[in-house]
Amino acid sequence: MCASNEVISCAILIFLGSQLVGGSDLPLKCATGLITGRLGSSVVLPCWLSPPLDVKAMEIRWYRPDQYSTPVLLYLNHKVMTDLQKERYRNRTSLSLREENSAGLKGGDVSLELKNLNMGDRGTFHCFVSGDKAYGSCTLTLNLTALGSSPVLSLQPQGDQVNVTCRSCGWLPKPRVEWKLSEQKIPGPGGLLFSQEGELTCVQSWVLLSPSRSGPITCSISLPGGEEKDGHVDIQNILCLKHGGGPWKAISAVSTLAAVALAAISIYFYRKYKTGYTAVKKGQEAEETAYPNPNMEELRKAAVSITLDDTRTCPGLMVKNKLVRDKEGVADTHREPGFPYHLSVYGRNSFSSGRAYWEVGLISPNIPPKTSWLIGVTKASNDFTENKHDDMTPSKGFWFLYLSKQTGLRVNTEPEISLPLVSRPESVGVLLDYDQGELSFYNVKEGICLVTMKTKFQGQVLPMFNPGIGDEAPLKILDTAGPSAVPAEGASSPTDNSVKIP
Ligand SMILES: *[C@@H]1O[C@H](CO)[C@@H](O)[C@H](O)[C@H]1NC(C)=O
Ligand SMILES: *[C@@H]1O[C@H](CO)[C@@H](O)[C@H](O)[C@H]1NC(C)=O
Ligand SMILES: *[C@@H]1O[C@H](CO)[C@@H](O)[C@H](O)[C@H]1NC(C)=O
Repeated sequence: MCASNEVISCAILIFLGSQLVGGSDLPLKCATGLITGRLGSSVVLPCWLSPPLDVKAMEIRWYRPDQYSTPVLLYLNHKVMTDLQKERYRNRTSLSLREENSAGLKGGDVSLELKNLNMGDRGTFHCFVSGDKAYGSCTLTLNLTALGSSPVLSLQPQGDQVNVTCRSCGWLPKPRVEWKLSEQKIPGPGGLLFSQEGELTCVQSWVLLSPSRSGPITCSISLPGGEEKDGHVDIQNILCLKHGGGPWKAISAVSTLAAVALAAISIYFYRKYKTGYTAVKKGQEAEETAYPNPNMEELRKAAVSITLDDTRTCPGLMVKNKLVRDKEGVADTHREPGFPYHLSVYGRNSFSSGRAYWEVGLISPNIPPKTSWLIGVTKASNDFTENKHDDMTPSKGFWFLYLSKQTGLRVNTEPEISLPLVSRPESVGVLLDYDQGELSFYNVKEGICLVTMKTKFQGQVLPMFNPGIGDEAPLKILDTAGPSAVPAEGASSPTDNSVKIP
């Protein structure tokens, strides 16, 4: 087996091997049991000499099975050596302390910290310490878990009930799902579906609830260890209860006429909520007139003329009077996935009381309709230079509805709720009812309320618009405020500039 010119080194290896099997002199200990790390984060693999012994002058070698010569970490001659280190551990390892008050190498603590954990890190690690005459070794096993994304809830009418669906990805191992309505456990989800994304698990679960049920609905997704992520929604808080919603027929039309309306769950629930439930059968809807569609003419009585603040926009935007879109080429340089929140522009009008209504156009003749946009309001005191998605929540003073290719139609509640998108609205009406703490969005053409956000506004709020990225069509503030319109608080006349918008 050993070639003649390698006999000596081979013999040494055999000798070493037999010593490893046969026992050791240094009293090296590894943590027992399974060490569990979180995918993407760091973990310390505890290994130490007990009784303690100064190991500063010794060799410390961490390695995977059968990879003795390409170690995870090698400490030799008083320093960490990287030339033999296996490439996949480069920059990810260091000697660490197994507990806060450990004396480190001086006290025989040779624990390994492994950063940025990935799937390949699961399994056995050898800890090996060798002095002049004696050595010791032990092994431990690392397993990984992954905490998935915050669940996104979506609402969809389903017969006479509402289908609340909860979805989240990136879990390891398979998570548990639990639903609660006002802190009461809902026994057994209506449906539970797991799918794999590589080694990670996606979960989708739904429950059917009567829309008249009030109180927060919570979907909790948890790991066996107990860590969990929650999503919650109070149906009553986001429905267009007072503002009239889309007729139920608009929803049932979805399955029959291919998609004519952006389905709003609202009026249907509204009926049920107000009248107590009576089953509505298809064909019966047209007769139901007790809760008519929102009266768009009535809404327009609160219309204000919005002007865009072209002094506070980012360089990637073109703003001209009432039009805004991303500049040519911006889409090509926008590398991060997700909605381009930084491409927002704000109204000059600010509001701190009363009601205000405005409309936003999302189509232009002869070009494809917009595929992404964001419309809402924001606290005037927000710093707009850095719009980070995580910070754009109602509690930070942002309230909006947005559409993007990746996420569909969503309202930025905490957490976000995804809404059924049956067809793209050609124009969206916004009613800000400051005193009532409500922001409602309408599909103007269909004459339906899409969603109402209940909230508490504080201080001044400004209209906010974002044309998304890569659409040919600009986002357009429509002129709904006639001569009789309420003058907007703090509004100034539109300024002209030379930016050309196609
Ligand atoms: C490790 O870090 C160095 C310096 O920061 C860098 O040049 C090198 O590319 C990194 N190696 C790996 C494998 O990430
Ligand atoms: C509820 O909606 C989900 C998708 O969001 C769907 O997979 C499920 O089948 C629906 N449940 C019912 C009863 O329709
Ligand atoms: C390691 O974790 C996976 C998933 O996280 C789990 O299925 C497996 O049982 C764990 N292995 C051990 C030995 O516990």
